[in-house]
Amino acid sequence: MFTIANNFNLNSKHEVLIIGLFNKTAGFDGYLEEADGLLDGYLLELVKSGDMSVKPKAISKLHTFGKLGAKRLYFVGLGKEKELTFEVLREAMGRAIKTVNSEKAAEAAVLLDTFTTENVSVLDAGHALGEATVLAAYKFEGYKQKTNEPDKKLENVTVYSQIEEQDDVKAAVAVGYAHGKGTNSARTLTNTPGNLLTAADLADHAVKLADTYGFESEILEKADLEKLGMGAFLAVNQGSVEPPKMIVLKYQGREEWTDVIGLVGKGITFDTGGYSIKTKDGIVGMKTDMGGAAAVLGAMEIIGELKPEQNVVAVIPSTDNMISGSAFKPDDVITSMSGKTIEVLNTDAEGRLVLADAMTYAKHHGANYLVDVATLTGGVIVALGTETTGALTNDEALFEQILEASYEAGEPIWRLPLFEKDKERVRSSKIADLNNSPGREGHAIMGGAFVGEFAEGTPWVHLDIAGTSTTKKDHDLGPSGGTGVMARTLALFVERFETE
Ligand code: BES
Ligand code: ZN
Ligand code: ZN
Repeated sequence: MFTIANNFNLNSKHEVLIIGLFNKTAGFDGYLEEADGLLDGYLLELVKSGDMSVKPKAISKLHTFGKLGAKRLYFVGLGKEKELTFEVLREAMGRAIKTVNSEKAAEAAVLLDTFTTENVSVLDAGHALGEATVLAAYKFEGYKQKTNEPDKKLENVTVYSQIEEQDDVKAAVAVGYAHGKGTNSARTLTNTPGNLLTAADLADHAVKLADTYGFESEILEKADLEKLGMGAFLAVNQGSVEPPKMIVLKYQGREEWTDVIGLVGKGITFDTGGYSIKTKDGIVGMKTDMGGAAAVLGAMEIIGELKPEQNVVAVIPSTDNMISGSAFKPDDVITSMSGKTIEVLNTDAEGRLVLADAMTYAKHHGANYLVDVATLTGGVIVALGTETTGALTNDEALFEQILEASYEAGEPIWRLPLFEKDKERVRSSKIADLNNSPGREGHAIMGGAFVGEFAEGTPWVHLDIAGTSTTKKDHDLGPSGGTGVMARTLALFVERFETE
């Protein structure tokens, strides 16, 4: 899809040429100055008059009427040089690519050097371009009967840069591309309806990843879960005709199986709420309750592509949460694999139950660090809205690394408090060690606190993506629906991971 080249000249033939445009007081230089000359000075005139905007992410199109090799120029506003951030750059590129796609151009070229500043290197720009190109082009195919009209797609992007290290540009674009692709896979898993993505289907997807990237895989069946005593996970599956799957992928990037990062993702393929049933409005959309699993599998795809020198075990407990004569009920007391007993007060607080056994199992596979990702609570949406993922932790240093990765990925997270008094509330059952629903107050914290009980002494970060795993609106880097949030954050976290 990408060709890296350094031989751009104004006669180079392209359907679309994408150029970054900063808000600079001192006219044009380089190619822009030359192009302006060929266009009789109109370019500078358009910028000065404000007809061509230099505002961040503004796209202005200009037909060249054969005066340049490129048929059309797309100017991408970038604002003031000093103020450009990596995130704005990525979104600006996404918007440019969306525009190219909406016009069904099959080919485009980018002058990468026009997107750089003192703080944003050409390699950053390459990464942003690679990532934005796949993210912005994402579409969930869906299930409409096809029309005969073929979908014309952007197929070739020529990336021009004059820096000497052309291989580094190529690598940066490829890294961005891998991040985008893994995110898109997470989006597709999230968007797929529950009848077409059962636990078995999710397991098949994981095994395919293992085959492609040489991961070790293990799928625990119901009988295995029974043998291991995963009573919390099994309770959630009890009312279902679909067998549960505990999905495990192992990636070994170091000589020894030490310093293992455990990524644990909630894989509820549909959440009815069980006997604590959801309302008719609240139940719609619950096919996305496996967004945590999607993020973990998306991250594993990126890790498989980029092969960082780290050890990772991914653990995904997957089932739907259904009602039937055999379903678990409020008041039931169940025993988790860890031995901790749990009083079920609400069958709709099922995510923390399946995660409990998955956390314990990740530790069995040697995880020394744990990150769980889950569409866990409506409470996190009340607390933080739909742009920010909620976090909890028992380890400042580990959280710091997740936070850094989330900045770089452009996926904001915000930490909620977890005090001893909060922990006391999940331990407040009169008849069991824990209860799964201590009430509405601070319930995003309660959900995470419950999962944290199963980290025990292991450094752990919890990410509640109930608000961020889907979006109602189209955005610069993709359409409404599944966002694939945290796939990139988790992958970057693993790529950059340092033990203390
Ligand atoms: N899957 C839901 C959380 C959710 C809500 C995800 C909205 C996405 C959008 C979770 O299993 C759930 O139902 N949580 C309950 C917990 C409560 C019963 C303690 C909730 O948030 O209401
Ligand atoms: Zn639920
Ligand atoms: Zn749920």
